Amino acid sequence: MIELRNVTYCLGGVADAAELAEFAARTFADAFAADNNPEDLEAHLSANYGPGQQAAELADPSVRTILARSNGELVAYAQVRRNAPPPCVTHAAPVELHRFYVDSRAHGSGLASELMQAVDKAAREFEGRHIWLGVWERNPRAIAFYKKAGFIDVGNTIYMVGPDRQVDRVLVASVRPPGSDTASCR
Ligand SMILES: CC(C)(COP(=O)(O)OP(=O)(O)OC[C@H]1O[C@@H](n2cnc3c(N)ncnc32)[C@H](O)[C@@H]1OP(=O)(O)O)[C@@H](O)C(=O)NCCC(=O)NCCS
Repeated sequence: MIELRNVTYCLGGVADAAELAEFAARTFADAFAADNNPEDLEAHLSANYGPGQQAAELADPSVRTILARSNGELVAYAQVRRNAPPPCVTHAAPVELHRFYVDSRAHGSGLASELMQAVDKAAREFEGRHIWLGVWERNPRAIAFYKKAGFIDVGNTIYMVGPDRQVDRVLVASVRPPGSDTASCR
């Protein structure tokens, strides 16, 4: 377990691209390497993570990337974006929680709940009223966390890891109002 100190939650910019690319690839592999074919995982990592890919995401006005730092060190990130939801999401003003990753050394620390408050804030800035996400059906810890955070299961969708078609549960929650924020960029 890492000791968390002076934790900040700030929007990332293009200057963070290389650091985010390394962190995002590492946390994806930490979470999913054990349950995926190595070639599929490698194809997914090279298609989705790298300084160029993350620079494009960080520069995209339809994406907000929240970086959580402990004493300056990146320990978690989340990406909220404007994106058309799958048909099972029929809720008003939906925005997508596209990525949500905490360093494995900080799992169970409460940091994920604080990061979710920063996600609510980013969703409100996109005028979202609901947050939807896809989570692999074989990721029970994340599903338990999201349910604890108020998400409900509304259906499923397909997510590709390389050529492997995986079933994601689709979860939805209401965007919480500003009064419930405790996390901010500081
Ligand atoms: C998903 C994630 C952000 C959640 O953060 P976290 O700090 O681990 O979450 P918490 O510990 O607060 O909550 C997880 C809950 O799942 C429970 N849990 C742990 N392992 C579990 C399992 N195998 N099955 C079911 N529940 C499980 C925990 O006990 C905890 O519940 P509790 O607080 O009631 O005890 C973090 O685990 C993570 O970054 N995982 C890897 C990346 C990932 O999967 N991201 C989501 C992609 S959609």
